Amino acid sequence: MEHGLAIEPPEAFGAEDFRRTLGHFASGVTIVTAASGAERFGMTCQSFFSLSLDPPLVAFSPAKSSRSYPAIREAGSFCINVLSAAQQDLSLGFARSGADKWADVAWRPGVTGSPILEGVLAWIDCTLEAEHDTGDHWLVIGRVRALEGSDHKPLLFFKGGFQQLA
Ligand SMILES: Cc1cc2nc3c(=O)[nH]c(=O)nc-3n(C[C@H](O)[C@H](O)[C@H](O)COP(=O)(O)O)c2cc1C
Repeated sequence: MEHGLAIEPPEAFGAEDFRRTLGHFASGVTIVTAASGAERFGMTCQSFFSLSLDPPLVAFSPAKSSRSYPAIREAGSFCINVLSAAQQDLSLGFARSGADKWADVAWRPGVTGSPILEGVLAWIDCTLEAEHDTGDHWLVIGRVRALEGSDHKPLLFFKGGFQQLA
């Protein structure tokens, strides 16, 4: 083959097939928060995972269309708030672009200054370690600075809808 390039097979699926099939992967739900001065930012994110134990790293992927992520990047630190079963409404509130997401939301600052939301199942406070340009999303890696879990039940997301543990 000239230049040794592999020929890509044609993609035999559309965006809807991609979304529907990937929706079979059940996950928890997080709200990624950050603060800058008196301003606070946050977005609901399913795309969170644990990446490395030594050093302690986690990752999430915000869409390039996100209005909150540029402010989170600018803040240089963020808190991953893992939602509990009772926080479905909070999850929907932080998924609304352009809305005032913080009205009536109880929170306190973590060690990086990023908001820890009241009643979460767990929180993971991070400094922004790296950002990679990956298609229509960014892949954002955080170095964990502090973290804590609780005994609440998790909020789950599966096939495009919220679920609870039986
Ligand atoms: C359950 C759930 C999971 C979501 N996961 C992600 C995600 O991983 N990445 C992302 O960019 N948007 C995700 N969204 C959509 C964003 O929350 C939403 O587009 C965003 O918060 C819009 O606000 P913004 O423009 O202020 O960022 C998710 C929404 C819901 C309801």
